[in-house]
Parts: sequence; C-alpha cells; structure tokens
Amino acid sequence: MNFHIFRFDKLLSTNEHLKKHLEKYDPNTIIWADEQEKGRGRFERTWLSAKEKDLTFSILLLLDKNSIDYWKNITQVTSLAIVEELEKNNLAVKIKWPNDVIVNDKKVCGILCELVELNGSNYGILGIGLNVNSNRKKIDIIDQPATSIYLELNKELNREELLKKVSTSIIEKISILMESGFSIFKDSIMEKLAWLGEYKVIEDGSKEYEGKIIGLNNDGTLKFQYTNGAIVNLISGEIRFKKG
Ligand code: BTN
Repeated sequence: MNFHIFRFDKLLSTNEHLKKHLEKYDPNTIIWADEQEKGRGRFERTWLSAKEKDLTFSILLLLDKNSIDYWKNITQVTSLAIVEELEKNNLAVKIKWPNDVIVNDKKVCGILCELVELNGSNYGILGIGLNVNSNRKKIDIIDQPATSIYLELNKELNREELLKKVSTSIIEKISILMESGFSIFKDSIMEKLAWLGEYKVIEDGSKEYEGKIIGLNNDGTLKFQYTNGAIVNLISGEIRFKKG
C-alpha cells in the first residue's frame, strides 16, 4: 500500500491543513502533526491531545462516483482498522457506534471524516486522534471519559510505527469499502461493538430515549429497540449516547 506521510511540528488542525492545501497533495497522503493548536472533533467539539505524545493525523481520500455512496461508512471501517491494530497490543478495545474507539467505556480514539469538493472531484478528509502516550494529567483535562494506550498498558508505544501500521490497514480497508460496499464489514464491526444488548439512553436534540442496541444494518445504521418494543434504525450524526 503506497502512501506518503508529511510530518509537521505544529499545525492548527491536520484536517484544516488538508482542506486548505488540497491541490498540493495526492490521494492517500497523510498529514501528521506533533501538535495541533485547534484540533476539532465531531459536533464542533475541541479535540485535545498532548504535544509529541499522541497521534493526530489526517488521510486524504479520493472518492469516486461509486464510492461516494459509502462515505458515511468510512469512519466505521476506520474504527475497525484501529481496533484490530490495538488488539494486537493486548488492549480490550471496542467500537462505540458509530466510530469512537473505547477501552472500558473510556475514549482512546476519535475519528472525523469531512467531505470536500474540488474541481468536480469529491474528497474525504479523514482525521484521526489517537491517545497514545498521554499521561494521567493530560487525559484528565479532557471533558469526557478518556484514556490513552499508555495508561492502559503502562508502556509507551512508538508513534511512527503505530501510525504506519494503522494507516496501512485503514487505506486497505477503505479501498475494499469503495469497491465492495459496507456489508462485508458488518459482522466484524458488530463483533467489536460496545454495549450490544445493553440498555442505554440516547439523545436526539433535546429529547432522550431509552432502549438497547440490538444490531447493525447492512448500511451501517444501528438497530435500536426502545423500551416500548419499537425498533428504529439510527443514523450516525443524528444521535448521541448519553454520558454515564
Ligand atoms: C471526535 O471524536 O469527535 C473526532 C475527533 C477527531 C480528531 C482528529 S485529530 C486529527 C484531525 N484534526 C482535527 O482537527 N481533528 C481530527
């Protein structure tokens, strides 16, 4: 798998950098920053990571006419690649649908894919924040339950090696997604899904609903059964699981 990694000491955000300089880079280019001054997460949240300790990077994806249908599944397939890689390091990782990677209900990795159009072509800017070697002090600044690989394993990992392994797997999986669609990933993702069969509260705007996750559909939407028995298919980006 061919890709080039450009490493920067400091950027505002690797996603923003790719957006701004899209024309300069080839598809599958990886922009890695040792520090982000304005890291962004989903729902316009701030993404905090420790300088030279964690991994913050973005991958530029060229989406052709067929693969654009699957762009919403890119982050799910990415979370599977990350989970599989972290499992090799003996971490008990799970996917919090749609795409957070968690250990014991604490977030270790966040993924954000943004769609951009340039000269008639569509691109995905796939940003990944992985808490690799952050210590307790850095993690405790984060305003949601979070952890790092270091805190879970009590050892530091080589970030560059991890970046190369994870990126290879992500790019491979995404090219399969583009060619063959999402359904072939469904079972593997379901196996790694957190809270399957467990009762949870979801938030939809200002409303809250209780129910349990009962499975995943072929298009990546989540099958959720309310306590009154009704089954709905949840679309990522529209709901959040309530904290706690
Ligand atoms: C989330 O869980 O809310 C998604 C977090 C995505 C963070 C990454 S870090 C690299 C890239 N640059 C950004 O500004 N955001 C993404």
